[in-house]
Amino acid sequence: AGFERTTLMKAHELTAKLYQYILRNTDQGKEALQYVRSRGLSDKMIDTFGIGYAPANWDTLTQLLEKRGFSLPLMERGGLISARSEGGGFVDRFRNRIIFPICDTSGGVIAFAGRAFGEAQPKYLNSPETMLFNKSRSLFHLHAARPQIRKDHTVIIFEGFMDVIKAWSAGVHNGVATMGTAFTPEQADIIRRLAERVIICYDGDSAGQAAAAKCIPMLEKVNCSVSVAMIPDGKDPDEYIESNGQDRFVREIIRGAVPAMRFRLLHSRKNYNLNEEGDRLRYLQAAVEIIGELSSPLERDHYVKDLSVEFNESYEVLKHSLHEARLSQQ
Ligand code: CTP
Ligand code: MN
Ligand code: MN
Ligand code: MN
Ligand code: MN
Repeated sequence: AGFERTTLMKAHELTAKLYQYILRNTDQGKEALQYVRSRGLSDKMIDTFGIGYAPANWDTLTQLLEKRGFSLPLMERGGLISARSEGGGFVDRFRNRIIFPICDTSGGVIAFAGRAFGEAQPKYLNSPETMLFNKSRSLFHLHAARPQIRKDHTVIIFEGFMDVIKAWSAGVHNGVATMGTAFTPEQADIIRRLAERVIICYDGDSAGQAAAAKCIPMLEKVNCSVSVAMIPDGKDPDEYIESNGQDRFVREIIRGAVPAMRFRLLHSRKNYNLNEEGDRLRYLQAAVEIIGELSSPLERDHYVKDLSVEFNESYEVLKHSLHEARLSQQ
């Protein structure tokens, strides 16, 4: 099995090189290169992230792997090629897609994500789970982000490939991505071993914000100090950078990250119409219950004070509600 892993790693390395070469040096790759550039990626970023292009042909990679003596059934189990549905033989798994290599913690390529350009579905096609690639333990670009993570004691978690890449070009070098899937306890453990602070910077749409809300307790459970960088107008980090620039992204979004409690309070507001008295009171009750989950009396008091000021309600009464909420939470 050790031999198979080593072989498969070599095959991934070769595949990454092939796709990079096709993107940068061939006519076949021209349109893809245009697309990648149109998304604001410089040649330097394409290089840093090893971005490539899998051509539209059925078997460019399959033929290369065969010529280099790789066992095709092993390559199939490794997710690089697929068995033909009829007639035997194999075809490339990734066709006509922009390729993002996914690396292990030592920087070896273990999987790929392929982005369609144009309208092809699905938008992203990823490697399957293989003997190299365990999705729930992978974080995109962790190997390269590690030095900055250690320096800052902080990890920034994004949803997508493009977000990590665009943040990197904005000088934010401690970003990783969960690659869209639900955040896992394994990922929380991996992060906690590297840093005690986490900034969640998910997409500003409702799916992204809901995912951020789910991520918080998992990180708090392993004693990370969590804050959330929120992006206005439902944009994702990549889109924000495209329309507002790198500097504003760093100054307003990343530096403007708020403590997880502040985010949770803001997030829960979306369920209430605060112009309506009954709803406003229901929100205050919900807010007090959320605040009641904080273990620090100082922090609880801080947020209750804020509420009383913002909603012009009695601090004493809110504190009393908090007390009752905590009693019923025990
Ligand atoms: N994703 C995936 N498969 C899909 C859609 C999304 O694996 N069919 C993952 C990808 O890792 C993607 C991330 O989820 O980067 C976030 O999804 P989304 O926000 O929809 O994509 P973006 O990263 O914004 O992609 P792009 O900017 O290229 O449109
Ligand atoms: Mn999204
Ligand atoms: Mn997105
Ligand atoms: Mn995007
Ligand atoms: Mn305050």
